[in-house]
Amino acid sequence: MTSAESATRDRYAAAAHASEAALCCPVDYDPQFLKVIPTEVIEKDYGCGDPSKHLHPGETVLDLGSGTGKICFIAAQVVGPGGKVIGVDMTDDMLEVANRNAPIVAERIGYSNVEFRKGRIQDLALDLDLLDRELRANPIADAASYLLADELAADLRVKQPLVESESIDVVVSNCVLNLVESRMKRQLFDEIFRVLKKGGRAVISDIVSDEEIPAHLQDNAYLWSGCISGAYTEEGFLQAFAEAGFHGIEILKRDEAPWQTLEGIEFRSVTIQAWKGKQGPCFERNQAVIYKGPFLKVLDDDRHAMERGKRYAVCDKTFSLYQKAPYRDYFEFIEPLTEIALDDAKPFDCSGIRERHPKETKGMDYDITTGAANCRTGGDGPGCC
Ligand SMILES: C[S@@+](CC[C@H](N)C(=O)[O-])C[C@H]1O[C@@H](n2cnc3c(N)ncnc32)[C@H](O)[C@@H]1O
Repeated sequence: MTSAESATRDRYAAAAHASEAALCCPVDYDPQFLKVIPTEVIEKDYGCGDPSKHLHPGETVLDLGSGTGKICFIAAQVVGPGGKVIGVDMTDDMLEVANRNAPIVAERIGYSNVEFRKGRIQDLALDLDLLDRELRANPIADAASYLLADELAADLRVKQPLVESESIDVVVSNCVLNLVESRMKRQLFDEIFRVLKKGGRAVISDIVSDEEIPAHLQDNAYLWSGCISGAYTEEGFLQAFAEAGFHGIEILKRDEAPWQTLEGIEFRSVTIQAWKGKQGPCFERNQAVIYKGPFLKVLDDDRHAMERGKRYAVCDKTFSLYQKAPYRDYFEFIEPLTEIALDDAKPFDCSGIRERHPKETKGMDYDITTGAANCRTGGDGPGCC
């Protein structure tokens, strides 16, 4: 029986030569970025969304399953000459088209900031070009040479990783995660987490289903390589990010109309953003936050429940995390009147959440009385009323 991975490789090898309409889910890419991209790349578009819309100048971007390179070539223009884009794909024929077109795009935009690497996205440490080279010199002929090749791969992962740990600002992908075999999907998310810098994010467009996919559809290798059978459910996709340690996970885009419907199950494109960086030690610096609403109550990724308008004690790490995207617009931030230096801060128990009395941030003996302050100066002189 053909495995899902072999079926996927064979199908996309063919789709690198002749465009396959069944693999295409129409996407409105920004036309200004398409002008410099050769037609052969655009014609072999097998994406379902546009994660490049969420990139910024200067970022280092990794595109998982880069195909003929379209998203990388768009991203190259968004991040500009100060940024960098790496595309990873496992299919030689896709990489050949991408590599052949990279110098053409570079010449048209006036700089070269894209490179393509051969690897499997669930194993981003293993450089398959290096492994190819070693295996050509020492082909696998028997069990002993197979085991040696396995040792060699382990060595390459450590000594010459395809993508270094904590080296990437944004991992993007367009319609690829669903193609990875079920048993490797947890490792895939762990790999995305590994390569991201602390504070980095994943922006992933993919096909998801609105119901669980039954076994007989999952066992169909053709449907698998067609981005159907391996799709997460809408809820399961978000859960996979959470289980890998991401926070601030949100749906940036969800197509209302399904791309395909099979046996009553709807398959549609979503774009998800998820952040890395909530892990680390917790210190008490007497800081507090107030959730501004509009909901009565929210639950964060560490299961801290906060009611609108109440003042909660948070550790220094959470305090600075909430001051960044995607949270900052939802909170008020209250610094203590007397700052506690990080070196002097005691450990903070992050296992639960508690309210913080205003006196804790002001100081227990704070009892001053003042006149009106911080009010607009009107025509009749100072005053609030
Ligand atoms: C549906 S196409 C998407 C291509 C591209 N992202 C685009 O927007 O046109 C899937 C691509 O992912 C690659 N691919 C599938 N599974 C992969 C894996 N496990 N590791 C690396 N590449 C993979 C295929 O070779 C193919 O180029």
